[in-house]
Amino acid sequence: MASKFINPWIKKIETYIPGQMKEGWIKLASNENNYGPSPAVIKTIKEKAGSIYVYPYKDAEVRREIAKYCRCKQGNIITGNGSDEIIDLIFKTFKTPAAGMFPTFSTYRITAGIFNKKYGEIPLDPGFSFDCKKFINNENFRESQLIFLCSPNNPTGGVIEREDIEKILAEGKITVVDEAYYEFCNKTCAGLINDYDNLIVLRTFAKAFALAGLRMGYAVAPEKLIKSLMKVKPPFDVNLLAQETAIAALSDVEFMEKNVKRILDDRIILVEKLKKKFKVFPTDANFILIDASPETANEFFNELFKEKIIVRKFGRFEGFEGDYVRISIGTGAENERLIELLEKI
Ligand SMILES: Cc1ncc(COP(=O)(O)O)c(C=O)c1O
Repeated sequence: MASKFINPWIKKIETYIPGQMKEGWIKLASNENNYGPSPAVIKTIKEKAGSIYVYPYKDAEVRREIAKYCRCKQGNIITGNGSDEIIDLIFKTFKTPAAGMFPTFSTYRITAGIFNKKYGEIPLDPGFSFDCKKFINNENFRESQLIFLCSPNNPTGGVIEREDIEKILAEGKITVVDEAYYEFCNKTCAGLINDYDNLIVLRTFAKAFALAGLRMGYAVAPEKLIKSLMKVKPPFDVNLLAQETAIAALSDVEFMEKNVKRILDDRIILVEKLKKKFKVFPTDANFILIDASPETANEFFNELFKEKIIVRKFGRFEGFEGDYVRISIGTGAENERLIELLEKI
Protein backbone atom coordinates (compact mmCIF):
# COMPACT_ATOMS: atom_id res chain seq x y z
CA MET A 1 0.00 0.00 0.00
CA ALA A 2 1.07 3.60 -0.65
CA SER A 3 1.25 4.29 3.10
CA LYS A 4 4.55 2.38 3.24
CA PHE A 5 6.14 5.39 1.48
CA ILE A 6 5.17 7.79 4.25
CA ASN A 7 8.01 8.76 6.60
CA PRO A 8 7.28 6.77 9.78
CA TRP A 9 7.61 9.81 12.09
CA ILE A 10 4.90 11.67 10.11
CA LYS A 11 2.36 9.06 11.21
CA LYS A 12 2.97 9.99 14.84
CA ILE A 13 2.45 13.74 14.43
CA GLU A 14 -0.59 15.30 16.11
CA THR A 15 -2.51 17.49 13.68
CA TYR A 16 -2.76 21.17 14.69
CA ILE A 17 -6.37 21.98 15.47
CA PRO A 18 -7.19 25.62 14.68
CA GLY A 19 -9.92 27.54 16.54
CA GLN A 20 -13.31 27.02 14.89
CA MET A 21 -14.97 29.80 12.91
CA LYS A 22 -18.60 30.14 11.86
CA GLU A 23 -19.81 33.07 9.84
CA GLY A 24 -21.80 35.52 11.96
CA TRP A 25 -20.67 33.95 15.25
CA ILE A 26 -18.40 35.58 17.83
CA LYS A 27 -14.98 34.00 17.56
CA LEU A 28 -12.84 34.36 20.68
CA ALA A 29 -10.71 31.31 19.97
CA SER A 30 -7.54 32.35 18.11
CA ASN A 31 -6.45 35.64 19.70
CA GLU A 32 -7.20 37.69 16.61
CA ASN A 33 -8.02 41.40 16.82
CA ASN A 34 -11.73 41.48 16.01
CA TYR A 35 -11.73 45.25 15.40
CA GLY A 36 -10.12 44.41 12.07
CA PRO A 37 -7.38 46.14 10.10
CA SER A 38 -6.81 49.83 9.41
CA PRO A 39 -8.87 51.43 6.61
CA ALA A 40 -5.49 51.96 4.89
CA VAL A 41 -5.22 48.16 4.64
CA ILE A 42 -8.69 47.74 3.09
CA LYS A 43 -7.98 50.54 0.58
CA THR A 44 -4.68 48.91 -0.37
CA ILE A 45 -6.30 45.52 -0.96
CA LYS A 46 -8.86 47.12 -3.27
CA GLU A 47 -6.23 49.13 -5.14
CA LYS A 48 -3.72 46.30 -5.48
CA ALA A 49 -6.10 43.39 -6.19
CA GLY A 50 -5.45 43.71 -9.93
CA SER A 51 -1.68 43.40 -9.43
CA ILE A 52 -1.71 39.79 -8.24
CA TYR A 53 -0.71 38.45 -11.67
CA VAL A 54 2.93 39.22 -10.81
CA TYR A 55 4.98 37.29 -8.30
CA PRO A 56 5.45 39.08 -4.98
CA TYR A 57 8.31 41.60 -5.36
CA LYS A 58 8.12 43.89 -2.35
CA ASP A 59 10.05 41.92 0.26
CA ALA A 60 12.88 44.45 0.51
CA GLU A 61 10.43 47.32 0.98
CA VAL A 62 8.47 45.42 3.64
CA ARG A 63 11.66 44.55 5.50
CA ARG A 64 12.73 48.19 5.39
CA GLU A 65 9.40 49.34 6.86
CA ILE A 66 9.40 46.61 9.54
CA ALA A 67 12.97 47.57 10.44
CA LYS A 68 11.83 51.16 11.02
CA TYR A 69 9.01 49.90 13.25
CA CYS A 70 11.45 47.69 15.20
CA ARG A 71 14.25 50.27 15.24
CA CYS A 72 16.78 47.98 13.60
CA LYS A 73 18.31 47.49 10.14
CA GLN A 74 16.66 45.89 7.13
CA GLY A 75 19.34 43.16 7.33
CA ASN A 76 17.97 42.20 10.75
CA ILE A 77 14.53 41.27 9.37
CA ILE A 78 13.14 38.20 7.60
CA THR A 79 9.47 37.84 6.62
CA GLY A 80 7.45 34.66 6.42
CA ASN A 81 4.04 33.26 5.56
CA GLY A 82 2.96 33.91 9.12
CA SER A 83 5.42 33.47 11.95
CA ASP A 84 4.39 29.79 11.71
CA GLU A 85 6.52 29.56 8.59
CA ILE A 86 9.49 31.15 10.31
CA ILE A 87 9.30 28.43 12.98
CA ASP A 88 9.54 25.99 10.08
CA LEU A 89 12.56 27.86 8.64
CA ILE A 90 14.23 27.77 12.07
CA PHE A 91 13.97 23.96 12.25
CA LYS A 92 15.36 23.74 8.70
CA THR A 93 18.30 25.98 9.58
CA PHE A 94 19.45 25.24 13.11
CA LYS A 95 20.75 22.24 14.98
CA THR A 96 18.59 20.38 17.48
CA PRO A 97 17.53 18.96 19.98
CA ALA A 98 15.12 21.74 20.79
CA ALA A 99 13.25 22.57 23.98
CA GLY A 100 10.58 24.94 25.21
CA MET A 101 8.30 25.49 28.16
CA PHE A 102 5.03 23.69 28.83
CA PRO A 103 2.30 24.67 28.26
CA THR A 104 3.13 26.91 25.33
CA PHE A 105 2.31 27.39 21.63
CA SER A 106 2.07 23.83 20.28
CA THR A 107 3.52 24.65 16.84
CA TYR A 108 7.12 24.45 18.14
CA ARG A 109 6.56 20.82 19.20
CA ILE A 110 4.53 19.92 16.11
CA THR A 111 7.10 21.43 13.72
CA ALA A 112 9.91 19.58 15.50
CA GLY A 113 7.91 16.38 14.93
CA ILE A 114 7.54 17.12 11.20
CA PHE A 115 11.34 17.35 10.92
CA ASN A 116 11.77 14.25 13.14
CA LYS A 117 13.71 16.35 15.67
CA LYS A 118 13.67 15.94 19.42
CA TYR A 119 11.72 18.62 21.29
CA GLY A 120 11.79 18.55 25.10
CA GLU A 121 9.10 20.17 27.21
CA ILE A 122 10.03 21.95 30.43
CA PRO A 123 7.04 22.46 32.73
CA LEU A 124 6.20 25.89 34.09
CA ASP A 125 5.60 26.15 37.83
CA PRO A 126 2.07 25.55 39.20
CA GLY A 127 0.11 28.72 38.40
CA PHE A 128 2.19 28.91 35.19
CA SER A 129 4.94 31.15 36.51
CA PHE A 130 8.37 30.88 34.92
CA ASP A 131 11.29 29.84 37.11
CA CYS A 132 14.39 30.67 35.07
CA LYS A 133 16.84 28.75 37.23
CA LYS A 134 14.72 25.59 37.06
CA PHE A 135 14.33 26.05 33.30
CA ILE A 136 18.08 26.34 32.73
CA ASN A 137 18.85 23.40 35.01
CA ASN A 138 16.30 21.12 33.37
CA GLU A 139 17.81 18.18 31.52
CA ASN A 140 15.86 19.03 28.35
CA PHE A 141 17.38 22.52 28.35
CA ARG A 142 20.88 21.27 29.00
CA GLU A 143 20.85 18.84 26.08
CA SER A 144 19.24 21.29 23.62
CA GLN A 145 20.82 23.56 21.06
CA LEU A 146 17.64 25.43 20.15
CA ILE A 147 15.33 27.02 22.74
CA PHE A 148 11.79 28.35 22.26
CA LEU A 149 10.43 30.96 24.66
CA CYS A 150 7.07 32.64 24.23
CA SER A 151 6.43 36.02 25.85
CA PRO A 152 3.62 36.76 26.51
CA ASN A 153 3.13 33.03 26.54
CA ASN A 154 0.26 31.50 24.61
CA PRO A 155 -1.93 30.14 26.24
CA THR A 156 -1.02 31.23 29.78
CA GLY A 157 -0.54 34.99 29.13
CA GLY A 158 2.57 35.47 31.30
CA VAL A 159 5.70 37.35 30.24
CA ILE A 160 9.28 36.30 30.77
CA GLU A 161 11.33 39.06 32.34
CA ARG A 162 14.15 40.53 30.27
CA GLU A 163 16.79 39.58 32.84
CA ASP A 164 15.65 35.94 32.63
CA ILE A 165 15.85 36.06 28.84
CA GLU A 166 19.40 37.40 29.15
CA LYS A 167 20.34 34.57 31.53
CA ILE A 168 19.07 32.06 28.95
CA LEU A 169 20.85 33.85 26.09
CA ALA A 170 24.07 33.74 28.10
CA GLU A 171 23.90 29.92 27.88
CA GLY A 172 24.83 30.37 24.22
CA LYS A 173 22.09 28.31 22.55
CA ILE A 174 20.00 29.64 19.65
CA THR A 175 17.13 31.24 21.56
CA VAL A 176 13.85 32.09 19.89
CA VAL A 177 11.62 34.53 21.76
CA ASP A 178 8.15 34.49 20.27
CA GLU A 179 6.64 37.95 20.75
CA ALA A 180 3.46 37.39 18.72
CA TYR A 181 1.56 39.42 21.36
CA TYR A 182 4.19 42.14 21.81
CA GLU A 183 1.89 45.08 21.00
CA PHE A 184 -0.42 44.13 23.90
CA CYS A 185 2.35 44.32 26.51
CA ASN A 186 4.95 46.63 25.01
CA LYS A 187 7.77 44.53 26.45
CA THR A 188 10.34 43.34 23.96
CA CYS A 189 13.83 41.93 23.91
CA ALA A 190 14.37 42.77 20.21
CA GLY A 191 17.00 45.38 21.16
CA LEU A 192 19.16 42.56 22.55
CA ILE A 193 20.06 41.39 19.04
CA ASN A 194 22.93 43.90 19.25
CA ASP A 195 24.31 42.20 22.37
CA TYR A 196 23.62 38.51 21.67
CA ASP A 197 24.40 36.77 18.39
CA ASN A 198 22.11 33.83 19.28
CA LEU A 199 18.75 35.65 19.61
CA ILE A 200 15.79 35.40 17.22
CA VAL A 201 12.64 37.39 18.03
CA LEU A 202 9.43 36.28 16.30
CA ARG A 203 6.63 38.74 15.56
CA THR A 204 3.45 38.74 13.51
CA PHE A 205 0.92 40.98 11.80
CA ALA A 206 -1.81 38.46 12.70
CA LYS A 207 -2.64 39.72 16.16
CA ALA A 208 -2.54 43.45 17.02
CA PHE A 209 -2.44 44.52 13.32
CA ALA A 210 -5.42 42.24 12.57
CA LEU A 211 -4.00 40.64 9.40
CA ALA A 212 -4.34 36.97 10.45
CA GLY A 213 -6.07 36.04 7.20
CA LEU A 214 -3.27 37.41 5.03
CA ARG A 215 -0.40 35.50 6.69
CA MET A 216 2.50 37.77 7.43
CA GLY A 217 5.05 37.21 10.16
CA TYR A 218 8.65 38.26 10.64
CA ALA A 219 11.73 37.70 12.74
CA VAL A 220 14.24 40.16 14.12
CA ALA A 221 17.73 38.71 14.51
CA PRO A 222 21.44 39.39 14.01
CA GLU A 223 22.32 39.71 10.32
CA LYS A 224 24.32 36.46 10.26
CA LEU A 225 21.33 34.41 11.43
CA ILE A 226 18.99 36.21 9.01
CA LYS A 227 21.35 35.38 6.12
CA SER A 228 21.18 31.66 6.94
CA LEU A 229 17.39 31.73 7.33
CA MET A 230 17.14 33.53 3.97
CA LYS A 231 18.84 30.57 2.26
CA VAL A 232 16.02 28.19 3.21
CA LYS A 233 13.14 30.63 2.71
CA PRO A 234 11.01 29.87 -0.37
CA PRO A 235 11.27 32.82 -2.78
CA PHE A 236 7.56 33.67 -3.02
CA ASP A 237 6.24 32.52 0.35
CA VAL A 238 4.66 35.85 1.34
CA ASN A 239 1.97 36.84 -1.15
CA LEU A 240 1.82 40.24 -2.82
CA LEU A 241 -1.27 41.46 -0.96
CA ALA A 242 0.28 40.51 2.37
CA GLN A 243 3.37 42.55 1.45
CA GLU A 244 1.31 45.55 0.34
CA THR A 245 -0.97 45.43 3.37
CA ALA A 246 1.89 45.07 5.86
CA ILE A 247 3.30 48.32 4.47
CA ALA A 248 -0.16 49.92 4.70
CA ALA A 249 -0.65 48.68 8.29
CA LEU A 250 2.70 50.16 9.30
CA SER A 251 1.66 53.49 7.78
CA ASP A 252 -1.21 53.60 10.30
CA VAL A 253 0.22 52.28 13.56
CA GLU A 254 -2.07 54.70 15.45
CA PHE A 255 -5.12 52.71 14.32
CA MET A 256 -3.65 49.51 15.74
CA GLU A 257 -2.66 51.27 18.97
CA LYS A 258 -6.14 52.71 19.45
CA ASN A 259 -7.73 49.26 19.19
CA VAL A 260 -5.08 47.64 21.38
CA LYS A 261 -5.98 50.19 24.05
CA ARG A 262 -9.69 49.32 23.77
CA ILE A 263 -8.82 45.63 24.13
CA LEU A 264 -6.62 46.28 27.16
CA ASP A 265 -9.34 48.40 28.80
CA ASP A 266 -11.87 45.61 28.26
CA ARG A 267 -9.39 43.07 29.58
CA ILE A 268 -9.56 44.70 33.01
CA ILE A 269 -13.36 44.40 33.05
CA LEU A 270 -13.39 40.83 31.74
CA VAL A 271 -10.77 39.64 34.20
CA GLU A 272 -12.80 41.08 37.09
CA LYS A 273 -15.99 39.39 35.87
CA LEU A 274 -14.28 36.05 35.31
CA LYS A 275 -12.54 36.17 38.68
CA LYS A 276 -15.90 36.10 40.42
CA LYS A 277 -16.43 32.52 39.23
CA PHE A 278 -13.16 31.07 38.02
CA LYS A 279 -9.46 30.96 38.64
CA VAL A 280 -7.95 33.49 36.23
CA PHE A 281 -4.27 33.64 35.32
CA PRO A 282 -2.39 36.95 35.00
CA THR A 283 -2.19 37.99 31.36
CA ASP A 284 -0.18 40.50 29.36
CA ALA A 285 -1.84 39.55 26.08
CA ASN A 286 -5.22 39.86 24.31
CA PHE A 287 -6.50 36.63 25.83
CA ILE A 288 -7.31 35.24 29.24
CA LEU A 289 -6.68 31.71 30.47
CA ILE A 290 -9.11 30.39 33.05
CA ASP A 291 -9.46 27.19 35.01
CA ALA A 292 -13.12 26.32 34.41
CA SER A 293 -13.28 23.69 37.14
CA PRO A 294 -15.38 22.37 38.77
CA GLU A 295 -16.99 22.66 35.32
CA THR A 296 -15.09 20.89 32.59
CA ALA A 297 -13.57 22.94 29.78
CA ASN A 298 -15.91 21.07 27.48
CA GLU A 299 -19.01 22.09 29.44
CA PHE A 300 -17.86 25.71 29.58
CA PHE A 301 -17.17 25.68 25.83
CA ASN A 302 -20.56 24.12 25.04
CA GLU A 303 -22.50 26.64 27.09
CA LEU A 304 -21.01 29.50 25.08
CA PHE A 305 -21.17 27.57 21.80
CA LYS A 306 -24.95 27.23 22.20
CA GLU A 307 -25.01 31.03 22.19
CA LYS A 308 -22.78 31.30 19.11
CA ILE A 309 -19.61 32.24 20.93
CA ILE A 310 -16.51 30.15 20.23
CA VAL A 311 -13.69 30.04 22.78
CA ARG A 312 -10.67 27.73 22.93
CA LYS A 313 -10.94 24.68 25.16
CA PHE A 314 -7.67 23.08 26.18
CA GLY A 315 -8.98 20.80 28.90
CA ARG A 316 -6.23 19.29 31.00
CA PHE A 317 -2.53 20.18 30.76
CA GLU A 318 -0.52 17.11 31.68
CA GLY A 319 1.06 17.55 35.10
CA PHE A 320 -1.21 20.46 36.08
CA GLU A 321 -4.42 20.49 38.10
CA GLY A 322 -7.46 22.07 36.44
CA ASP A 323 -9.48 22.21 33.23
CA TYR A 324 -8.49 25.08 31.00
CA VAL A 325 -10.18 27.43 28.56
CA ARG A 326 -8.62 30.40 26.76
CA ILE A 327 -10.80 33.36 25.88
CA SER A 328 -9.64 35.98 23.37
CA ILE A 329 -10.76 39.53 24.05
CA GLY A 330 -13.12 40.68 21.31
CA THR A 331 -14.68 44.00 20.41
CA GLY A 332 -16.61 46.02 23.03
CA ALA A 333 -19.96 44.63 21.85
CA GLU A 334 -18.65 41.05 21.76
CA ASN A 335 -17.22 41.36 25.26
CA GLU A 336 -20.51 42.73 26.56
CA ARG A 337 -22.36 39.74 25.11
CA LEU A 338 -19.81 37.40 26.68
CA ILE A 339 -20.20 39.06 30.08
CA GLU A 340 -23.99 38.79 29.82
CA LEU A 341 -23.68 35.04 29.25
CA LEU A 342 -21.03 34.56 31.93
CA GLU A 343 -23.51 35.90 34.49
CA LYS A 344 -25.75 32.94 33.60
CA ILE A 345 -23.09 30.22 33.65
C1 LIG B 1 2.70 32.51 20.23
C2 LIG B 1 2.33 32.44 18.80
N1 LIG B 1 3.27 32.43 17.87
C3 LIG B 1 2.98 32.37 16.57
C4 LIG B 1 1.67 32.30 16.15
C5 LIG B 1 1.39 32.18 14.69
O1 LIG B 1 1.25 33.41 14.14
P1 LIG B 1 1.12 33.63 12.58
O2 LIG B 1 -0.31 33.87 12.32
O3 LIG B 1 1.98 34.80 12.29
O4 LIG B 1 1.63 32.39 11.90
C6 LIG B 1 0.64 32.30 17.08
C7 LIG B 1 -0.76 32.20 16.64
O5 LIG B 1 -1.67 31.96 17.38
C8 LIG B 1 0.97 32.37 18.44
O6 LIG B 1 0.03 32.37 19.39
